Amino acid sequence: MRASPECELNLTPGSLIMLVDAESRLPRKDPIVTALFDVSGKVALVTGGSRGIGRMIAKGLVDAGAKVYITSRTGCEEAAAELSRAGECLPLPADLSSEEGVGSVARALRSAEPALHVLVHSAGAHHVAPLEEHAPEAWDEVWSVNVKSFFRLVQELQPELRAAARPGDPARVIAMGSADGARVPQMDVYAYGASKAGLHHLVAHLARRLARRGITVNAISPGAFPTDMLRPAIDEWGEETVMQQVPMRRFGEPSDIEAAVLYLASRGGSYVTGAVIPVDGGLTLV
Ligand SMILES: NC(=O)c1ccc[n+]([C@@H]2O[C@H](COP(=O)([O-])OP(=O)(O)OC[C@H]3O[C@@H](n4cnc5c(N)ncnc54)[C@H](OP(=O)(O)O)[C@@H]3O)[C@@H](O)[C@H]2O)c1
Repeated sequence: MRASPECELNLTPGSLIMLVDAESRLPRKDPIVTALFDVSGKVALVTGGSRGIGRMIAKGLVDAGAKVYITSRTGCEEAAAELSRAGECLPLPADLSSEEGVGSVARALRSAEPALHVLVHSAGAHHVAPLEEHAPEAWDEVWSVNVKSFFRLVQELQPELRAAARPGDPARVIAMGSADGARVPQMDVYAYGASKAGLHHLVAHLARRLARRGITVNAISPGAFPTDMLRPAIDEWGEETVMQQVPMRRFGEPSDIEAAVLYLASRGGSYVTGAVIPVDGGLTLV
């Protein structure tokens, strides 16, 4: 990043593209940074955008000027209303474990927008149970939400993604993978860990297939973010012990995930496809 010596980065959430002049303290837009990470005017769909990491992503995109649709089974309208205070956020409530839910999201998006610039799949299901008790139904739920619905949304929304693609500015698909898909998980999350490893593989497969169609496909692999999904680990081991497993000794913060998504969704990330980017404080290395 090229900042002149008299400037410093002001890294408040949602203001990645702002530079502050150290003498006057007046914020100003740096044309280089703005051009690289600008997503204003883009249309984005964030599954699982009602809470947790998906909400962090939706907020980051709304704050940066994108028009954002979010999905979830519950709390979708409330979350969209709150996020709309800073910009434009619209709810598409649906159960993505069902074909009907996937279809309803695709139909609603298609009828509202001719083009989709950014598709983020953050909806995720998790199941923790000892080997002997890991239920077959859990496999169905976890794989449907984490892998199948991602594939089906890309399949269904491919025309809208292709319609958004421009030379040098492809449409972007971003999936939330997991450190648990890149290493043997610490917890008894057999279906979940396998689903995330499968998702990473699917991202590479789709990236190769869609590269010539103007669509990049990448995954972000989060480590430990203190959301509802991390609750079983915190309940079992305690917050301090979970944090101690992370080489950087802290949980992920909203700005960590927002910045990675803004990079992949903007001109700065336009030549990146098929990547799994760890945003995990080094957790995958343990
Ligand atoms: N938190 C972490 O430390 C961590 C680490 C690695 C990877 N990840 C990944 O990051 C993503 C987000 O995780 P998170 O921590 O934000 O989880 P979370 O707080 O549990 O949120 C999950 C989101 O997915 C939605 N969702 C779950 N099942 C759904 C279904 N059947 N249909 C539609 N939406 C559904 C939830 O809304 P409803 O329940 O209302 O439907 C919610 O919006 C997941 O893919 C997860 O695997 C998280």
